[in-house]
Amino acid sequence: MNIEIDVLNGDASWPRAKPLHQAVWGRHIVEKLPWAHIEWAHPDLRVLIDAPDDSGLACHVGVYFRTVTWNGHKVHIGGIGGVATREDCRRRGYASLAIDAAVQTMRANEAVKFALLFCEPHNFAFYQARAWHPFTGGVTCEQSSGPIRFEAMAPFVYDIVRAPRQGRIDLCGLPW
Ligand SMILES: CC(C)(COP(=O)(O)OP(=O)(O)OC[C@H]1O[C@@H](n2cnc3c(N)ncnc32)[C@H](O)[C@@H]1OP(=O)(O)O)[C@@H](O)C(=O)NCCC(=O)NCCS
Repeated sequence: MNIEIDVLNGDASWPRAKPLHQAVWGRHIVEKLPWAHIEWAHPDLRVLIDAPDDSGLACHVGVYFRTVTWNGHKVHIGGIGGVATREDCRRRGYASLAIDAAVQTMRANEAVKFALLFCEPHNFAFYQARAWHPFTGGVTCEQSSGPIRFEAMAPFVYDIVRAPRQGRIDLCGLPW
């Protein structure tokens, strides 16, 4: 089967992503989670896969580009976030395809040295099976209240060139 994968501007494609985003992370769902209070960055790009029956979006991955610091040194990285597949479309390989497309998009940007995501324990095995490695160091980020240590979810890294496994990453902005 031919699966069409779109990689679009993040802000412009938000209306297409919104229904899936709200189904997975609507206010009533998020308010019960430990990261409900976190302010998140908006993705620069979105990878989108429509359901084959024209019933709308099946899968979404947000793609971020950011110059962060690692142990005080500036490094340009990519990020993925907002990874979600519509409940009735899961276990068909859509998220795997969309994450691959996100990684290919980052590779196309020669400045990107590694990729970073944050996830909850129930998704650790999913990402580890896809060559993402736990980052065991500390992460800080910005919030409108000021800088914070980001501990709401666990960081995982992916070797675009080579990703550090430990040390201190400052996201130099909102998390994703
Ligand atoms: C996590 C999530 C994005 C996975 O989406 P998905 O599209 O079902 O993912 P995939 O189909 O690529 O892979 C899921 C599993 O199905 C399996 N699978 C893939 N294609 C399959 C197929 N055709 N038939 C049966 N199983 C299949 C994969 O092997 C994988 O199993 P594994 O985790 O044991 O390796 C989805 O469950 C989701 O949206 N969850 C809620 C939001 C969330 O937690 N997002 C992650 C934020 S970090």
